[in-house]
Amino acid sequence: MEVTCFKVSKLFMKNQCYLVHKNGQGVLIDPAWDYKLINSFIIRNGLELLGVLLTHSHPDHTNLADRFARNHDIPVYMSQIEIDFYNFRCHHLQAIQHLNFISLSPFSIIPLHTPGHTAGGTCYLIENSLFTGDTVFIEGVGICSEYGGDIDEMYDTIQYLKTTLSDKTLIWPGHSFGQIPGKELSFLKGQNIYFQFDNREHFTKLRMRKGQSNPFNFK
Ligand SMILES: [Fe+2]
Repeated sequence: MEVTCFKVSKLFMKNQCYLVHKNGQGVLIDPAWDYKLINSFIIRNGLELLGVLLTHSHPDHTNLADRFARNHDIPVYMSQIEIDFYNFRCHHLQAIQHLNFISLSPFSIIPLHTPGHTAGGTCYLIENSLFTGDTVFIEGVGICSEYGGDIDEMYDTIQYLKTTLSDKTLIWPGHSFGQIPGKELSFLKGQNIYFQFDNREHFTKLRMRKGQSNPFNFK
């Protein structure tokens, strides 16, 4: 399985969306901003697109989902919780649940409910790769102060990922603050301070501190 990362942007927003592909078939994760860039790659490589996975409902992760769903006649997956909480709508939208496999042969996809940044935030595990949206970055974790965010849930999410996943799992986040995506979880356990806390209060104090630099300072 190959993972292709598209760096896309609009104004100050910079996102990483992904195409996983294997045997001429592919699945998109969080397509946004640049339809032409992503779609021309799919066409140039003769890939059949099977579906779109959405980690959460924020527009910088979803704004091309409807267009890909219509143009490729494919399903779009998002957690039931996220759909209900934010009233998300999209062509061919399919609700998913924590740990309920999505089978898009040749891909077997495990959705993990990872709230904290949003109410129904979801990471997708495909083979050895975890697509984390705004839940986990290589350098940190997503903000928890927007509507539906919850710092306690984020702490629990990080503990869950730390203790559930193999250290060899490759982490593919929706944004970068400088690091290249696809680092192993073991790298985050050593370098990402939010993976070092075993104390909820200390985790909360750091993530919710006042006077943080611009949260959209993406590279
Ligand atoms: Fe977000």
